[in-house]
Amino acid sequence: MASSTALISETEAWKELKGHVEDIKKTHLRDLMNDANRCQKMMVEFDGLLLDYSRQCATVETMVKLLNLAKAAKLTEKISSMYNGEHINSTENRSVLHVALRAPKDAVIKADGENVVPEVWSVLDKIKEFSEKIRSGSWVGATGKPLKDVVAVGIGGSFLGPLFVHTALQTDPQAAEFAKGRQLRFLANIDPVDVARNVKGLNPETTLVVVVSKTFTTAETMLNARTLREWITTALGAPAVAKHMVAVSTNLALVEKFGIDPNNAFAFWDWVGGRYSVCSAVGVLPLSLQYGFDVVEKFLKGASSIDQHFQSTPLEKNIPVLLGLLSVWNVSFLGYPARAILPYSQALEKFAPHIQQVSMESNGKGVSIDGLPLPFETGEIDFGEPGTNGQHSFYQLIHQGRVIPCDFIGTVKSQQPVYLKGEVVSNHDELMSNFFAQPDALAYGKTPEQLQKENVSENLIPHKTFSGNRPSLSLLLPELSAYNVGQLLAIYEHRVAVQGFVWGINSFDQWGVELGKVLATQVRKQLHSSRTQGTALEGFNFSTTTLMKRYLETSSEPQM
Ligand code: F6P
Repeated sequence: MASSTALISETEAWKELKGHVEDIKKTHLRDLMNDANRCQKMMVEFDGLLLDYSRQCATVETMVKLLNLAKAAKLTEKISSMYNGEHINSTENRSVLHVALRAPKDAVIKADGENVVPEVWSVLDKIKEFSEKIRSGSWVGATGKPLKDVVAVGIGGSFLGPLFVHTALQTDPQAAEFAKGRQLRFLANIDPVDVARNVKGLNPETTLVVVVSKTFTTAETMLNARTLREWITTALGAPAVAKHMVAVSTNLALVEKFGIDPNNAFAFWDWVGGRYSVCSAVGVLPLSLQYGFDVVEKFLKGASSIDQHFQSTPLEKNIPVLLGLLSVWNVSFLGYPARAILPYSQALEKFAPHIQQVSMESNGKGVSIDGLPLPFETGEIDFGEPGTNGQHSFYQLIHQGRVIPCDFIGTVKSQQPVYLKGEVVSNHDELMSNFFAQPDALAYGKTPEQLQKENVSENLIPHKTFSGNRPSLSLLLPELSAYNVGQLLAIYEHRVAVQGFVWGINSFDQWGVELGKVLATQVRKQLHSSRTQGTALEGFNFSTTTLMKRYLETSSEPQM
């Protein structure tokens, strides 16, 4: 693959950008925004989407320099390596081919010399058939009743992406129509409270449990799966598992060992990273059960449209590339460590949590892909809430406290339009008034001179001053159909990859999640032996020993 041992920070292009920071510090967005010519160059349209990045603290010259950085990082070659199925996830020796999950049936995408698209479509066809059986009631539960409710058990990438898409589609009129009378719930946390909340009001007789785990070894998911298996078998007897439990995994041997019929298992592959798996059976199965396969296919088509754009559009007009480069600029050069994801759409309320994993698990790394310690930080702290809720929560800090580059995401059309007679604007116009106003408030700010002219009392002027010059970008979607949700997902997935390619890290492994898991195993063993044999705590530091002692001595957990 196109990797190199030199750190990107040693290249001329990087140093050029470092020097350029001083030029940018002399500018203010208030002035930059007055240059319509510049602003026009900072807008891109593709397939109904409009990206406006004119409110970034960047000039046309900055963009040229960022494109030079992309060249120095061999970005085009790295994108090709991904699409060509090279093992760019080198620490796990795997290809990275989530793009194959939404490729058209006649596409050819190879992993290890094999075209994977037919395999992808054979699983999609199986999901289509199975979900139609469940939805039509031709597949029934152990007592002969149709299965109208689904609990998807999974965590991390086996949860957040499907939850985001489900939440986004819930109020889409077409999707909602197809979901009538059905429920889809997600059980992720090992906290028994999550189990209690998710089975509340459900009847095992009419519930299908989908166990979703790439590895089928994740401690939380497996215990939750056993807990729901118990819930089903207690009510309906052991043979009911065959009718009420199915699985999604790359590890079909473990699925069988768990007691789920391999015919009721839906495969995916090790070239799909967990956090990039929503377009595999991980998301497609639960979502098809809820909304029908046709709706989910539209979602896949939206993602595929962006995949093609990302693969073939010149860098300067390529939306994920531009977004990725601007994020690198904000993090590595302007020194802004966070990014706010602010959809002006309640349907996108689970978008930021999903992108938190996609981005932070991918790019929160300390060494280059070749294992060299990095002299610069990678990744950013992603957080967000839908507008306008965020405005009444953390926007104070964004306007007058720390500088946080913001992504404003809005839609032209509402999924659920409301207009009340006599109101000045429709409810969606009211929402979007904020979408248009906030980026300018951040960019322009308000000067003491303006406040003086408004006769604001002297003592309040410092408090009411807004420095402005706070970067944001605006992404306007025509609406929030399944297709647009797919587009949005793919844009962010590829943006994160672009950042990682430029920083020269491996965005597709996640070794950082391992240590905590290992230590939890040691704690689990100790809890077991202390509870069953009264074994004294051993091998923990003073702090952990004290905490565990308190827990064991005062807890009311049932003794085994
Ligand atoms: O949190 C670590 C992680 O490995 C994620 O990368 C992954 O999405 C999640 O656990 C769940 O893993 P699995 O799908 O194998 O249960």
